[in-house]
Formats: sequence, structure tokens, C-alpha cells
Amino acid sequence: MREWFAAGSAKQRVEQFSLEAAGLYLDYSKNRITPQTMALLMQLADEAGVPKRRDAMFAGDHINATEDRAVLHIALRAGAGATFKVDGKPVMPAIHAVLDRMRVFSERVRSGDWTGFTGKRITDVINIGIGGSDLGPRMVCRALSHLASNGPRMHFVSNVDGTELAECLDRLDPEQTLVIVCSKTFTTLETMANACSARQWFLDKGVALAVSTNVEAVRAFGIDPAHMFEFWDWIGGRFSLWSSVGLSIALAVGFDAFEDLLIGGRAMDEHFRSAPLAQNMPVVLGMLGIWYRNFFGMPTSCMAPYSTSLELFPAFLQQLEMESNGKSVQLDGRHVRAHTAPVVWGSAGTNGQHAYFQLIHQGSQIVPVDFVAPLRPPRLLPGHHAKLLANCFAQAEALMLGRTAEALRATGLADEIRIAHMVFEGNRPSNTLLMEDITPHTLGALIALYEHRTFVQGVVWNINSFDQWGVELGKILAKPIEGELTDAAKAAAGRHDASTGSLIARARAVLGSA
Ligand code: F6P
Repeated sequence: MREWFAAGSAKQRVEQFSLEAAGLYLDYSKNRITPQTMALLMQLADEAGVPKRRDAMFAGDHINATEDRAVLHIALRAGAGATFKVDGKPVMPAIHAVLDRMRVFSERVRSGDWTGFTGKRITDVINIGIGGSDLGPRMVCRALSHLASNGPRMHFVSNVDGTELAECLDRLDPEQTLVIVCSKTFTTLETMANACSARQWFLDKGVALAVSTNVEAVRAFGIDPAHMFEFWDWIGGRFSLWSSVGLSIALAVGFDAFEDLLIGGRAMDEHFRSAPLAQNMPVVLGMLGIWYRNFFGMPTSCMAPYSTSLELFPAFLQQLEMESNGKSVQLDGRHVRAHTAPVVWGSAGTNGQHAYFQLIHQGSQIVPVDFVAPLRPPRLLPGHHAKLLANCFAQAEALMLGRTAEALRATGLADEIRIAHMVFEGNRPSNTLLMEDITPHTLGALIALYEHRTFVQGVVWNINSFDQWGVELGKILAKPIEGELTDAAKAAAGRHDASTGSLIARARAVLGSA
């Protein structure tokens, strides 16, 4: 890459390897690619059926084959004229009916018109959920917190570790707190345990709502279905923040901002649906990921948002990519013959620079990095943002250029051992994604970009990106172990491998259970 950027055609390289869509600018010139690489990667995308599968998704086909479901989170953010159907039935009227309810409800809560059980204004909202019922809305509320000054304070509780809920409840007044129990299935252990404990806390004083696809379970839990915001099984949990799962977002920043988020997502959908493959941002990003994962064997990739507001984006992306594409079996049941999703990791810059960037610059494994940065900060403190951006750009430049032994010697350094330690080999790939500001619109586009990128890669690997069987087994095994931890008879009857058995015995000895 150093040589390519030293050539007279370097400016042309940047023009050739950059794209704009939906308010996002992508510079992907700092990759190990030539025009021929990109042409071949696009050919691979085409031959793997990316356009065909994309069209099947937009047509409402049951592309989630193992669960026999359509995949239509795109319908949630479609415009008024959209005509999405599932099994021949139009879905837009139901989507708009729920959106209308969300608008009315969020505006009433925010204005103080809708009060708690005892007539007091709602000052705090707790979203109880996990996975897709937590990471998406939590990330968006964090990213848009600069717009949240007139809304209730948001709290997110996900872990079944009671510490999280207890610490949250300690700070709040049940009479002024709205609890949202957010779960697609309404059976998830963590969420139901937290919801039961929260119910004890606000008994006779507080109020709870449900967000779910499972009306029967909501009723059985004791929430009146009239207090439920619906969504549907053709929306995957990790793609659900655009549905009523986003109620917490609408409460925090207002429904107009939530609607702008949908519009930003829609702008990326339209780009993904219509742009030629070579100018299609999700396709280009997806195929670059394939290039490094499958052709270079790079096992991880780093998301580095240079923005505290986007600090939860890496965690959101982990579920999106690793739950979607952490698979080993193709659609037809055969084993995948290539590596699938890399390990996704990262955190906000510049913090990462002082923790793990050493490895990214000089470690023995190459880690492709996606830098994401807003050009203007959500909160202005003089001088800070230029420093932040400068560091973002400098990291990408350092990764690409590196530092040669010759350059070090030219500074007068003569100690060859020292020089060896101070060389940066460079040629390390990164993408830089810029947006002018973090607005609901650009954030919506950013999220939809990574959703579609994940989808593109799943198509190339010929896997189902929309199921998650890999999380089932642990859940099943936890049930009997929970009983054995608290019940001597069950513990005596438990059958486990020697290691698990001894861990249970050790825990029982400390817990002093019956
Ligand atoms: O971790 C598995 C999973 O099913 C995720 O896919 C999902 O987002 C999460 O659990 C929560 O599920 P639910 O919304 O049904 O509580």
C-alpha cells in the first residue's frame, strides 16, 4: 500500500475507492486491493447470489429457512407507499398502527400527560431486555443522548446478575418509573427473572408495559395486552430496534427523532437495493471483510468508533455479526468449507489507542479496522474534536504507511536492535467511515449499513444469517443446574461431567443450600 500511495495516481486511488451514501462517506482506499481485486470480489458477490438473495429478502420470501420465516426488518423503516407482504398479506398497515401508538404514547409520557399509577409524572424508564431487546435500543439511546434533554432518564437492565437490577432500582422511585419488559419471545430467562423482581419492587405503585410478539405470555405474566406494543416473528431480535423494541428510543429522544432514525435506515436500504454492486456500500464493505477473512485468514476485525456517543456500537455489532454469521453449516446442511464470521471487537477511540492498538500496529496477527467518526461533535468543548479526529486519521495513516528501518536510520538512530523494535511494517488495512454529525438519520444509515454488510457476507458463505441455534444448548443445560445449586435432592441426582459436577459442588458448599 505504501508504494501505491507514493505513486502519482494516489489521488485517483482515493477517488476510485471511496463512496457516499445516505449521509455516510466511506474511504476504503487503505486496503490491500487493486481495481482487479475489487472487480473479482464483485464477481464473487454476484456469483454467490447477493443480488438474488437481497431481492428475495425484499420480496418477503422465507429466507430464514431453518425457522421458516421472512426477514423483513426493512419493512419497519419503509415509507408510506411501501407494499411489503408476508405470506401474501400486506404488513404495512400493522407496522403503521404500532408506530402511531408509539408516537401517541411517547409524546404523552414526555409531555407529562401520561402518568404513573399514582398520577405522578414519569421521570425514569427502565428497559428490561437482553440481546437484541437491549443492545440496539441501549446503543441508540447512548448515541443520541445529546438529543434527550426533554425526555425521561433511560436505564437498561439486561443481566440476570441481580446486581444490575438492584443497583438500578436503588436509585429510582417506583411511582415515577415506567418499566418496559422487552422480549420477542417473552420467555427469556434473564428478562423474565428481572421483570419478576421489578414487579415486586413497584407493587401497587408502579406501572409496566410489554414489548413482544407473544401476547399469551404477556397476559400470563400479568400485563394487560392493552399495555403491550406488538412486533412480529419476521423480525429477528438483533434487527428489532426499528420495531416497538425502539419504544425506549422514542421515549428518550422523541418520536420525531425515532422516525428520522427509520428514515436514515430506509435511505441505506434504498441504496443497498438499487446501487450497482461495485458502488454499493454494504456490498463493498462486506466483500472487503470476505477478502481478509477468507483470502488472508485474518481471524478478527476491530470496530473503532472515534466518538464516545458511539461507544456501544462495537457491542451492538458483536451480536449483529457474530450471532448472525457465527455458523459452520451451509443452507443445504453441508459443512461450510471456508471460515465464517471473524471475532468482532473494539471500543471507542481514543481509549483503544492506550490499550490494544499496540497489537493492531505491531502484533503478529493483522486486524482490519473500521474507523467511524462524526466530523462535528455532538457536544462542543473547544479544541477536543480536532484532537479526536486527528488521532483517528493518524491511526489509519500509521497502519497503512508504517515506519521503515530506513526512515528510522535517517533520523540518526544507529542501534539496530532498537530500530527493529521501532519498525512498523505498515500495509495494515482499514476503512474510514465519516458522517457530518451523529443525527438520528446518519445513525440509522450506519446501523442499516452494517446489517446489510452482515447479510452480504452470510450470502457469500451460504449460511442462514437469521437463526441462532448456537445459543440454545447452554440455556437448556442451565435449567437443571440451577435446580441442583439450590436443592440437595436434585444435586444428588444430577449427572454431569467431572468438571461441571465439581464446580456445582464447590458452589453448593459456599451457598450452603438445603
Ligand atoms: O441470545 C439469543 C437471543 O434469542 C437473541 O437472538 C435475542 O436477541 C435475545 O436472545 C433475546 O431474546 P428475546 O427478545 O426473545 O428475549
